[in-house]
Amino acid sequence: MSNPSQRIKELTEQLNYHNHLYYQENRTEIPDREFDALLKELEALEEQHPELKEPDSPTQRVGGAVTKEFATITHKYPMLSLGNTYSEEEVTDFDERIRKTLGDEPFEYVCELKFDGVALSVSYQNGVLKHGVTRGDGVRGDDVTTNVKTIRSMPLKNVSGTPLKDFEIRGEVFFPLQEFERVNQEREDIGEAPLANPRNATSGTIKMQDSAIVSSRRLDCFVYGLLGEDLPVESHWEGLELLKKSGFNVSPTSKKCGSLEEVMAYIEEWEHKRFELPVFTDGVVVKINRFDQQKRLGNTSKSPRWAMAYKFEAESAQTLLESISYQVGRTGAVTPVANLKPVHLAGTVVKRASLHNANEIERLDLHLGDTVNVEKGGEIIPKVTSVVLEKRPADSTPVEYISECPECQTPLIRKEGEANHYCPNEQGCAPQIKGRIEHFIQRKAMNIEGLGPETIELLLKEELIKGPVDLYELTYEQLIRLERFAKRSSEKLLDSIQKSIGSASFPQVLFALGIRHVGATGAEKLARHFKSIDALMNANFETLVETPEIGGIIAQSIVDYFTDEQNRAQVERLKTLGIALELSEEETANQSNALEGKSFVVSGVFSQFSRDELKKHIQQNGGRVVSSISGKLDYLVAGDKMGPAKKTKAEKLGVNIISEEEYIQLANNA
Ligand code: IVH
Repeated sequence: MSNPSQRIKELTEQLNYHNHLYYQENRTEIPDREFDALLKELEALEEQHPELKEPDSPTQRVGGAVTKEFATITHKYPMLSLGNTYSEEEVTDFDERIRKTLGDEPFEYVCELKFDGVALSVSYQNGVLKHGVTRGDGVRGDDVTTNVKTIRSMPLKNVSGTPLKDFEIRGEVFFPLQEFERVNQEREDIGEAPLANPRNATSGTIKMQDSAIVSSRRLDCFVYGLLGEDLPVESHWEGLELLKKSGFNVSPTSKKCGSLEEVMAYIEEWEHKRFELPVFTDGVVVKINRFDQQKRLGNTSKSPRWAMAYKFEAESAQTLLESISYQVGRTGAVTPVANLKPVHLAGTVVKRASLHNANEIERLDLHLGDTVNVEKGGEIIPKVTSVVLEKRPADSTPVEYISECPECQTPLIRKEGEANHYCPNEQGCAPQIKGRIEHFIQRKAMNIEGLGPETIELLLKEELIKGPVDLYELTYEQLIRLERFAKRSSEKLLDSIQKSIGSASFPQVLFALGIRHVGATGAEKLARHFKSIDALMNANFETLVETPEIGGIIAQSIVDYFTDEQNRAQVERLKTLGIALELSEEETANQSNALEGKSFVVSGVFSQFSRDELKKHIQQNGGRVVSSISGKLDYLVAGDKMGPAKKTKAEKLGVNIISEEEYIQLANNA
């Protein structure tokens, strides 16, 4: 066996190489499983020989270290801000000021997008990542190095062969939009409030104490600046090129512009095209290219004279805050919503805006009757950004947050450290019950078709059901009496309710229960591990946390759920109905590890499986079903009628495209 130090070096080099391929070049040369095996080997070696663990080890990417309090670091080069404008005239003025200072000297601009994330400074010493620091007040920021190291595209060590040794980079950390949606979908599945918008989520995430969570959120960073003494480049553009060559993630959207006209054309181009990017942008940054010219132009105390930001028109409007309503979700979390006098905003009429929670109302110091600014920024739902104080009526009163549930009048509670208020009346509060039913019937759960929100509301109103399980006791006579139901629709609904009894698998049923923090994936893991609801119900906290990938929060939530008598009674009723509450013999027998470590995307129509059956088959055999094609994907199982775009993308990324037959062979042979 080679000596550990030698092996650690080899592994580090290989892992860095593959990380770089994956994150910067969007391709892979080895399957996921092999990559994970290399990483595991390295982790094990580092554990045995802690003295050999390098600060730039790729094992840092997975996080794990917990920071109690971030140290403060003084920036070597202060982090300035940028002069902002919304008008093209001011860009022209900027150009004129530059000409005045530089005289007849020729100069160039570099235009870049202004990414809407969180500014970051990262310093390297002798080519190794030393510190990642937030902007803070521009002079001092927080040392968030452990979190920065989880950003896969941020080199822990400068690629060899480039001249950069001691330097700093500046960049913008962001939540890739797809990733943001994924995290929010997961949160919704487990009954947690969604993250409000990518920017705030980024700033919250980069300052989290537990770097393992940061790692799971897969932040990214566009690098837009290089700083240092005696740099081997003379201009910003050359700096960007060198950063690219050195393995940094430089956005390909930057452009060198020789004239003001080209700058304007760039602005115009990106005003629309920016929506195609994986990150929100809120403007264009125009920079003078040559460093010596930048130096001559100098800085004011706050911002450089050699750069400015043109901000895209924030899509905002002023309108009246008429009232506030409070929505209660499936888990009892209360969300305040502003009811506005309808106003046109970015192509739609806005009547409501999100207010998030009581802290936000307090921060805005909202009064009823206030005129407020509403924006459609980085989020889908518009939000109230500020109050127009000059327009506040003299007799207005501050908004007072409710203390009782608007639906069932139960006093609200607010848990220590949480921003949301909750209604604790789980069994008696209508929207919570409705939410639980909607959760229960969804496709990933019991998959009961033909039961929309209005019908659920009607059934609740007519007191035909009180909870999800009552659906199974509905009768034709009850339905046909209802306004919206005719013979066919009644039969159809009863039929799809009955169908769910035999077709939902145990993991689906477990997910359907809506145990807080147990999403579809969690339910799958619990079901495979415990094999039956009885085993799960009887497991104590200690047994639960020992389950692979089940943490303390989920374990506690399961214990809490089954401590409640009503929940246990509900499970007993499901049992009587014959709903799957354990893995079937077939499922247990069919379980294998044949596809362990492999990821699959399933697309198109198949002859031997339905698409969902195929996905289930993959999971039962240890494979992972993912939704999007990336360079890291192992297989695309292609059925009939698969979209051509998927195929092209898979081909481009070198993903194995296999047919249904080839899949079956793979599952049997592996
Ligand atoms: S250059 C001294 N370039 O905008 C100039 N900044 O007010 C330093 N930002 O918080 C900034 N994209 O985080 C620059 N391509 C880009 C940028 C960018 C986003 C942010 C930056 C800073 C703010 C400037």
